Amino acid sequence: MQFSIKAVSPATAKTACVIAGVYQDHTLTHAAKALDQASGGALRQALKNGDLSGKKGSALLLHGLNAQTARVLLVGLGKDKTLSDKTYLDAVRAGWKALSATGAADALWCLHEVPVSGRDLAWKVRSTAVNIEEAQYRFDHLKSSSDAEPEKLKSLALVVDKLQLKAAQTALQQALAEAHGVALTRDLGNLPSNLCTPTHLAATAKELAKQFKLKVQVLEKKQMEALKMFSLLSVAKGSVQPPKFIVLAYNGGTANGRTAKQAPVVLVGKGITFDSGGISLKPGEGMDEMKYDMCGAATVLGTLRAVAEMQLPLNVIGVIPTCENMPNGNASKPGDIVTSMSGQTIEILNTDAEGRLILCDALTYVERFKPAAVIDIATLTGACIIALGHVHSGLYSKDDALAAALLKAGKAANDTVWQMPLDDDYQEQLKSNFADMANIGGRPGGSVTAACFLSRFTKAYTWAHLDIAGTAWKSGAAKGATGRPVPLLVEFLKSYKP
Ligand code: BES
Ligand code: MN
Ligand code: ZN
Repeated sequence: MQFSIKAVSPATAKTACVIAGVYQDHTLTHAAKALDQASGGALRQALKNGDLSGKKGSALLLHGLNAQTARVLLVGLGKDKTLSDKTYLDAVRAGWKALSATGAADALWCLHEVPVSGRDLAWKVRSTAVNIEEAQYRFDHLKSSSDAEPEKLKSLALVVDKLQLKAAQTALQQALAEAHGVALTRDLGNLPSNLCTPTHLAATAKELAKQFKLKVQVLEKKQMEALKMFSLLSVAKGSVQPPKFIVLAYNGGTANGRTAKQAPVVLVGKGITFDSGGISLKPGEGMDEMKYDMCGAATVLGTLRAVAEMQLPLNVIGVIPTCENMPNGNASKPGDIVTSMSGQTIEILNTDAEGRLILCDALTYVERFKPAAVIDIATLTGACIIALGHVHSGLYSKDDALAAALLKAGKAANDTVWQMPLDDDYQEQLKSNFADMANIGGRPGGSVTAACFLSRFTKAYTWAHLDIAGTAWKSGAAKGATGRPVPLLVEFLKSYKP
């Protein structure tokens, strides 16, 4: 389905369907009013007849009102004339659901004409396109036959005023770039671990580099040894899949006359392509979902894809330590002590706390970029799910400005984070009798102590950590990757001032 922006009159343009809003008190939005007039009051009559309540989430399809408009889809907006983010997004989803059930091949979408509190047209256009793209996502190419119905809708035009044409087009182009990034992240997450190996992630990074003219470097085990990444390698050594260390750089910082020396934002993503727990083996139930333990890595690739397609005037570097966490005869054992790239020693008391072991070496590695900020993204702890459920990702940072920017971006993108504590009082739980630190801090505050562990490797720069264990994928009947937190990071980078 093709999106476009059109400056036309929805009541007189020829179309298979117009989507417009109506409030609960039966007030018609601008476009609905025009359609009502063009059809001799058919919309008001339908409301009078009680065919549509105008309540949030309700929708009514009207046929054959006049020669040029084959259908009108009225979507209920609720009571308030100015919508909340949530009411607006619900209306978009309800409108899309009803529209895709029709046979319309093309449509004129007008819901973004309604005011949304504190949001501009660009936000409304972005939210519309991103949510519709998200609803259309399928991952069925590994089934021998698909039961999904073919899409009937071929083109969807968002109707705007002539004066808003340019702004809306930019917003749409950026939204589609974001949606492509989200889809890539979801695809990689959903791909099973026998196909989505560290080698596959490296190949994906190379493809992106080719397509978008990015710089890519993939370090092999030998090079990681030379860099003394022995914490990362201690996780990889229980698997027959070779580990990879991916560095993917987007250099947009020279655009708009800015200097190429602009300090980069560095994104570090956990890339465990399967987390069996290692020798501290996980229980069998639901273990398949540990194919999603590379969603941090997938987020980095998806975000870079979006940023590159948008051509943002920034330098962004993605760094992905990636391997499998498996229990073979060569695997790390509880009690083993390793020396990280930073020189700090780690007692591995639980081989299932492996994410922090690969991230810590990546966090040391990125010092060389003299970053403006480093954000790591990781499906790090089950404890984060206990703390925050599946609503917010966990946000950890000692930098108030960075934390505030991420919180704000999360709200704007409807991909929220909740700030968690990171004070030194928690560091004590990581004490080891035999090394500089242990890799686990016990059950209390398990997500916090994991973040505290990472913080020991981030002293050289401004840093934030996102624990996405509860938000990167859904379980149960709707099992699948969400693409979070790509929307949050894209929004953050869009408004980032270098
Ligand atoms: N990848 C898991 C965290 C996880 C578990 C994410 C379930 C999403 C759902 C991580 O590597 C892990 O196993 N963490 C352990 C840490 C513990 C051993 C201190 C956990 O959360 O149980
Ligand atoms: Mn684990
Ligand atoms: Zn893990």
